[in-house]
Amino acid sequence: METKIVKINPLRPDGAKIRRAAEIIKRGRLVAFPTETVYGLGADALNRRAVKKIFRAKGRPADDPLIVHIASREDLFKIAVNIPPEAGILAKKFWPGPLTLIFKKRKIVSGEVTAGLNTVAVRMPDHAIALRLIKAAGTPVAAPSANLFGKSSPTRAEHVIKDLDGKIEMILDGGPTKIGVESTVLDLTVSPPVILRPGGLTLEKIKKFLPEVKLFFSNSAPSAKHSPSKSPGMRYRHYAPGARLILIEGTVEKTIKKARELFSQYRKQGKNAVIIATKETAKFYPAAARVLTAGSRKKISTVAKNLYKIIREADKAEVEVILAEGFNRQGLGEAIMNRLERAASKIEKV
Ligand code: TXA
Ligand code: MG
Repeated sequence: METKIVKINPLRPDGAKIRRAAEIIKRGRLVAFPTETVYGLGADALNRRAVKKIFRAKGRPADDPLIVHIASREDLFKIAVNIPPEAGILAKKFWPGPLTLIFKKRKIVSGEVTAGLNTVAVRMPDHAIALRLIKAAGTPVAAPSANLFGKSSPTRAEHVIKDLDGKIEMILDGGPTKIGVESTVLDLTVSPPVILRPGGLTLEKIKKFLPEVKLFFSNSAPSAKHSPSKSPGMRYRHYAPGARLILIEGTVEKTIKKARELFSQYRKQGKNAVIIATKETAKFYPAAARVLTAGSRKKISTVAKNLYKIIREADKAEVEVILAEGFNRQGLGEAIMNRLERAASKIEKV
């Protein structure tokens, strides 16, 4: 199939282009589109055959459920039941935005979407293209990140093209995404509510409205096999580059020291290593080292925004090892560290 790549203004999307994309969704086919977090691969959430195509295009295991995207808060009532009062508060405060909420599902949502679970993940994305596309399609849109299974989520249309060209009908190219890591997944079917995946909305912000919220995921497992089965997607080693990624965790000073040590060790072995550093730390590495700068430690949102692009850049055929600096877990640091840990073959604590 020939994938149509359509450039579209992210702030004032052209109505005719949105309608073309919406027609594809209505016909039960797939469209990749930008959200504020990462690009999604969308299908009509109420059409099982369409939803199955998502799994096929991505090579995604059928036991990993999808997020259903809506364009207005009221649409939540069409797909979920037993909606607790906290949901109203969170949706009012954080939707549209990088927060996915888990509820008990209505029958209308098929087991293909929820991987057989009786719960459904729902989010209202904060992006004009996504919202208008969902509205024009006239149906909730099931959409995982628009990458091949096991690869980093796409934050630019180029990433989607690399992974899915020829496998889907259309890619709406609305430029780079703003946040760069996926939404925070919060389970409201349990008490206290738990965060199954840290993401674009920080724990600190959620806590202001939901003080009892807990983090519930594996922090340190480089292979996700210890992760809770509550969060099916977290079982898989994800966001994974082909090169071996070594994550270094500790104070900034010790992290730099360790990265320098490992770099020269690998060089002696004749191995090609790349360092993922930051604006503040890049200058401490030898001139001969290939250093990629993810962003600034003083503005962690810049690291989140660039993270997946940098991992994709580091992961070139000739690169054998990626040495990645760690971050502290405040704010978006939690999501960044979660993704780095899940991409890592090894974690060096210093
Ligand atoms: O920012 C995002 O969330 C992006 C954009 C496109 O919206 N989407 C995204 O989808 O990251 P995906 O499929 O790559 O990740 C969805 C995560 C997975 O970890 C999945 O296991 C979890 O949400 N999930 C979905 N439904 C669930 C459910 N009913 N119970 C528990 N976890 C669920
Ligand atoms: Mg994904």
